[in-house]
Amino acid sequence: MLNRLLALQRRNPYPLYWVLRRVQPIVHIARYDLWFATRYDDVKKVLSDYEHFSSDFRRAFRPGEEIDQSSKISLIASDPPVHTKLRGLMTKAFTPRAVASLEGRISELTHELLDGVANAGRMDLVQDLAYPLPVMVIAEMLGVPAADRAQFKIWSDKIVRMADDIFSSTEDQRGDREGADAPLGAGEMGDYFKKIIEERRSAPQDDLISGLVAAEMDGQKLSEWDLLDFCSLLLVAGNVTTTNLISNAVMLFLEHRDALEAVQKNPALLPDAIEEVLRFRSPVQFMFRVSSTETELGGRTVPPDQRVIALIGSANRDESVFEHANRFDITRKPNRHIAFGQGVHYCLGAPLARLEAKVVLPILLERLPNLARTTSGALPPTDGVILHGVKNLPVRWDAPPRMVAV
Ligand code: HEM
Repeated sequence: MLNRLLALQRRNPYPLYWVLRRVQPIVHIARYDLWFATRYDDVKKVLSDYEHFSSDFRRAFRPGEEIDQSSKISLIASDPPVHTKLRGLMTKAFTPRAVASLEGRISELTHELLDGVANAGRMDLVQDLAYPLPVMVIAEMLGVPAADRAQFKIWSDKIVRMADDIFSSTEDQRGDREGADAPLGAGEMGDYFKKIIEERRSAPQDDLISGLVAAEMDGQKLSEWDLLDFCSLLLVAGNVTTTNLISNAVMLFLEHRDALEAVQKNPALLPDAIEEVLRFRSPVQFMFRVSSTETELGGRTVPPDQRVIALIGSANRDESVFEHANRFDITRKPNRHIAFGQGVHYCLGAPLARLEAKVVLPILLERLPNLARTTSGALPPTDGVILHGVKNLPVRWDAPPRMVAV
């Protein structure tokens, strides 16, 4: 029963968000010791006010303890000033030029994937395209062999499951987690990247790993630990998130034919349409922080060392910011959604995610005429609680007539 309710909630969390924003915008669930912020302004505050809401999840596992700030911590889980240094170094390699240079390859990879299914006249848009593509793009950017992509997927899915686990554990299950100080992709994945990092140190190439190895700021470089952690972070952060952006976009276009036709007639509308997809079905539904001191939030007092969930998916439907928030409107202006977060941790890969959607969607619409869903009704939601998307999206289109041998 509980599982069915959760599945229902994952499929369509918006009615509950709506009620919470009105009735109890800051919710505390005692059993899990979790706080939820649902309104736009509160969500923005939790995400950006790092002095009161820390990204360092170690606090949640060791309440009351002093955290050694000099010890290793991942970019996404660090606070300034450690975060400022790490992000500065990583931004040196993850440049707009490096992202823009991928445009041609994203297009080729999309065609490659579609070649495999175009004549069939049907596919599962998630499994056949939106799922494999982003990992191929990251592999390309990092400069790792294409042959290792399948292994990448396995590692990436494993880390996403681990992250989900952090949020869904109860107080008794939390304890002092083993491995909280390990880089994101320790073990087999760490060994894999260590080897590539060594290779790039001795023979740099025109890829992100070589750029990260060389990055230097104020005489400082990234340590091996940081390099390993960042490679795995990219693999996770840039993977299923983008899968969900692409599949949510196609799903919404197929549900809103007027929007689809408008984009087909005038491709200049596509960038704004992608922003509306990000707002309307935000691929990352929430991020979490840990309160560092007693803090006021939306009229309530949050004690220190509490896990606070910033519900991005709810903030992006807040009627006080977005008129007719439950309407999918590709001409919406302004569209101040926070699907990529807010403040110092603002998504580093946002330009890449946008580029992938901007390249893939027109190719898809051009190569697959009269695209439509093969099934009606609700689609299965993705596993886990952080990401918002569908597991499968079966579609069909007018395939070219088959050549019959005579
Ligand atoms: C539609 C796709 C994506 C969405 C919705 C998304 C969403 C987010 C969000 C909400 C954050 C903020 C985390 C926080 O505040 O704690 C974030 C951070 C991050 N994202 Fe993305 N992301 C996407 C794609 C990507 C891609 C393609 C990459 C890289 C290839 C990427 C790399 C990162 C990194 C490295 C961070 C951490 C930044 C920091 O802590 O300073 N993301 N993303």
